[in-house]
Amino acid sequence: MLNSSKCKPKDISRNQILFLIRFYNKNMDYDKDYQDKKPFGERPEEFIPHILDYIQTGKTLDIGAGYGRNSVFLAQAGFQVTALDQSSTGMEKLKQEAQNKNLNIECIVGNVLVFDQKQTFDLIVIAFMLHHLESEEARMLIAQMKRQTNLSGIHCVIAFNKNGDIYKQRPNNHFFLPAEGELKEIYADWEILKFKEEERRMYQKKEDGTNMFNMTLFLLARKKS
Ligand SMILES: C[S@@+](CC[C@H](N)C(=O)[O-])C[C@H]1O[C@@H](n2cnc3c(N)ncnc32)[C@H](O)[C@@H]1O
Repeated sequence: MLNSSKCKPKDISRNQILFLIRFYNKNMDYDKDYQDKKPFGERPEEFIPHILDYIQTGKTLDIGAGYGRNSVFLAQAGFQVTALDQSSTGMEKLKQEAQNKNLNIECIVGNVLVFDQKQTFDLIVIAFMLHHLESEEARMLIAQMKRQTNLSGIHCVIAFNKNGDIYKQRPNNHFFLPAEGELKEIYADWEILKFKEEERRMYQKKEDGTNMFNMTLFLLARKKS
């Protein structure tokens, strides 16, 4: 997804190293998590249907799609969906579901940071994924997503902020956990259509066995024409 021609050689090798670290540390966990269950449930994240208030059809990219609960909803609503995730288990599950339900979903296994995608989209969804990236990487990715969006196209960004268990567990991390102002500032050149902040229960447990909770930012924005 990131345009490699604009990256210095130093950045590319750093990204590749980060990819390998994530592949072995994180992706394997998601592969395991998706193996015989759907940890986020069958239904789309409840903010996703709000997208239909602003766009009803078009080419869609779902980044970090998991096993595709949001991709399935959007394909059923009539979008032509490309789902991208580094979990092969997640993408395999989605491929099967799309075949069974006869849905228009292309499933790609890959890391968005090294995924050179020249296509443009009418809608890009990135839900609960940006906290896996370092702050600088996430900003670069969003900039690239903007470049690959058609005029009047829509972004749906769902991201955790610092007010939750993810941050409490690793307060010194450099991952992208934006404040409300930070996310809105990133989208200052777009029309912000909807924004809210709400707490979400996560399927991951804390050491005491209770579920983690995270404050979450939900943003819908339109590229100005
Ligand atoms: C918390 S899950 C969210 C899944 C889905 N968006 C949803 O809402 O159900 C985060 C997903 O991001 C994926 N992911 C993390 N880093 C990624 C990367 N660099 N490239 C592609 N996928 C990534 C993980 O494999 C995982 O499936």
